[in-house]
Amino acid sequence: MQIEHLPRHVAIIMDGNGRWAKRHALSVAMGHRQGVEALREIIRYSSDIGIKVLSLYAFSTENWQRPAFEVKALMQLIVEFFHAEIDELHENKVKIRILGGKDALPEEARKAVLMAEERTQKNTGLQLNIAINYGARDELLHAVKKLLEKAQKGEISADTLSLSHLEEALYTASQPDVDLVIRTSGEKRLSNFLLYQSAYAELSFLDKLWPDFKVADYRQVLEDFSGRQRRFGGRQA
Ligand code: FPP
Repeated sequence: MQIEHLPRHVAIIMDGNGRWAKRHALSVAMGHRQGVEALREIIRYSSDIGIKVLSLYAFSTENWQRPAFEVKALMQLIVEFFHAEIDELHENKVKIRILGGKDALPEEARKAVLMAEERTQKNTGLQLNIAINYGARDELLHAVKKLLEKAQKGEISADTLSLSHLEEALYTASQPDVDLVIRTSGEKRLSNFLLYQSAYAELSFLDKLWPDFKVADYRQVLEDFSGRQRRFGGRQA
């Protein structure tokens, strides 16, 4: 059955890989690997049903504090993911954008993400944002720096500065705001993910751990979203 009101932009905090691994007596790296299986299905389904933008939180600016072996495993998974999936993503017209500071990524990961962005840049299907070395506060700082450079060149001033200048300086430039944030694993936090873009987003928190999050669960969340009334600070007509 078709869902009536689809969100244009869905953002997902894929939490619970570590706990999933523990429950299955596996290494944390295996938990993340299973997490990639889940995200593959969610990307495919989002593309099939016509979601415009899907943002996935893969690695935060705070995740560098994890043990070195885990950071290495995550970076390796990111490299593997882009190499293994790029052909299918490209065939399905998926357009990839990395949200976050790419310069700080290890060489191999940086090359893989740049390749994925470049290969898919002309695509017109699902806009897939993968947040890597991303933090919303860091994004705002990065945006302010860009705006200051523009001001120094005389392109903007305190009088002419508007929200659209700020929005164009974010990693999500020219994309719609987030309509729906989904977080798995029972935690009810936004953890520095797309804070500006989620100002009016609906929030959906699920107890399932990310590797257990299936298309049927996603569909249920989308159906729930479809039934919610959004007022954006105004009153219902
Ligand atoms: C949170 O689980 C998950 C992450 C920090 C990483 C999410 C990454 C992936 C699903 C795979 C890599 C992404 C790509 C694009 C290939 P957690 O480890 O914090 O779980 P826990 O809270 O149960 O320990």
